[in-house]
Amino acid sequence: MSVTIGTPLQSSAFKVLLLGSGELGKEVVISLQRLGVEVHAADRYDHAPAMQVAHYSYTLNMANAEELKQLIQQVKPHLIIPEIEAIATQVLVDIEQQNIATVIPSAKAVNLTMNREGIRRLAAEELGLPTSAYRFADTLESFRAACDDIGYPNFVKPVMSSSGKGQSRVKNFDEVDAAWTYAQTGGRVNQGTVIVESQIDFDFEITLLTVRAKNAETGEIETQYCDPIGHRQDSGDYVESWQPQAMTPAALEESKRIANKVTIALGGCGIFGVELFVKGDQVWFSEVSPRPHDTGLVTLASQFQSEFELHARAILGLPVNTTRHSVAASAVIYAGVDDHNLSFSGLNLALANPNTDIRLFGKPEGFKRRRMGVATARAETTDQARELALHTATQVSVQQN
Ligand SMILES: Nc1ncnc2c1ncn2[C@@H]1O[C@H](COP(=O)(O)OP(=O)(O)OP(=O)(O)O)[C@@H](O)[C@H]1O
Ligand SMILES: [Mg+2]
Repeated sequence: MSVTIGTPLQSSAFKVLLLGSGELGKEVVISLQRLGVEVHAADRYDHAPAMQVAHYSYTLNMANAEELKQLIQQVKPHLIIPEIEAIATQVLVDIEQQNIATVIPSAKAVNLTMNREGIRRLAAEELGLPTSAYRFADTLESFRAACDDIGYPNFVKPVMSSSGKGQSRVKNFDEVDAAWTYAQTGGRVNQGTVIVESQIDFDFEITLLTVRAKNAETGEIETQYCDPIGHRQDSGDYVESWQPQAMTPAALEESKRIANKVTIALGGCGIFGVELFVKGDQVWFSEVSPRPHDTGLVTLASQFQSEFELHARAILGLPVNTTRHSVAASAVIYAGVDDHNLSFSGLNLALANPNTDIRLFGKPEGFKRRRMGVATARAETTDQARELALHTATQVSVQQN
C-alpha cells in the first residue's frame, strides 16, 4: 500500500511529528514540506532550527514520558521521527505496539541506538560484526579493571552520550580516574555506565549512508548505499566531510555487508548513518544513527537527492535515488563565542566561488564550539573540495550584537 498525502492544515493532512529540531531535522522538514506533508516540530527550547520551517512547534522535555505521551496524543501524527537520542524511548515502543503511529525507522532502532550498550551488543554479539574490543563498567572499580583488560590507549564514552560529550582517550593507567570523573559529567542522564573500547588504528573513517526504501513496483524494502563519506573528527565532533572517500573494492564490499546486516536488524524505512573504521581491506563497525548523519551534510552538494530528501522519501514509502553527481566536501561553521542573537557576515566572499554554498541554521544561541552553519563546495577532487569548503567556512565571520 502506498502513502496518500493530504493537504496540510486540513483534515486530510498527512502529519509528521519531529522529536528534536536541530539543523539535520530542519533539512528533513524542508524536504517533507516540499512533498506537502504537515510538519510538527518539538524540542527543549524555543525557535530551534527545524521549528522555524515547520507548521507547528512545541517546547517540552522529550525525555519526560508523560510530556511526550501528551504531545503525541495532541498531534496524532502518522509518523514520529526521533531526531535526537535523548527521548523517553519506551513511550515510542508502546506507541508502535499499539499501532498509534509509525516510529521512524522503528522503535527497536531508536531504542537500541540511544544507548551504546544496546547497539554494540547487537552488532558484535548478535550479528557477529567486527568491532573494537569493549567492556562496560558502572563503578570506578570495575572501570579500572575494564581499562586494564582492554589496554591502552583506549576510548571511554558514557553509554548515553553523543557528539563526544564525556568522551576521552585514555593513554595509561594514570589517566583512568580522571576519565571516569569526566565521563560522569558528560552523559545525557546520570546513569553512570561507560563503555571502554580498544583503539582501532584505522587509515580513515567513513559514514556509509544506507537507505532502506520501498521498491516502487514490488513494495519490498530494498537497501541502497550512498558513496562513502570520509570525515575528520575533532574531540568527538565532525569538522569536515567529503564524498567520495576512496577505498579498496574489498573494503567497500565489506562496508556494505556490515551496513546491510545492521540496518536489516534495526528495521523500518529511512536513512542510516553507519560509522565505520577502515584499514586497507579491513573494516570495523563503530556505531550507527537511525537518521541523517551530520557528516552527510555534504550530500546537499554532491547528490541528486541529499540524505534529507532520501530520508523524507524513504519514510513516506517512496522510491529513492542515491546517485552522486559531484565530488564535494563540507566544513562546519562554529559560533566561536558564547552568546545569543549572533550575526553572520562575509557571506558575499564565502559565496564568491560559484561552486560553494552555505547553510545558516538560525540557532538562537551560540557557544564557542556550537555548530551554527555549514559550508559546502564542489570540485574536481576531494582534496580541492575540502580546501574550498574550509576556505568558504572561514570567510563567514560571526558578530555579537
Ligand atoms: N575505538 C576507537 N578507536 C579509534 N577511534 C575511535 C574509537 N572510538 C571513537 N573514536 C574516534 O572518536 C570519534 C567519536 O566517537 P563516537 O562516534 O563513538 O562518538 P559520538 O559521541 O557518538 O560522536 P558523534 O555523535 O559525533 O558521532 C570517532 O568518529 C573516532 O574518530
Ligand atoms: Mg560517532
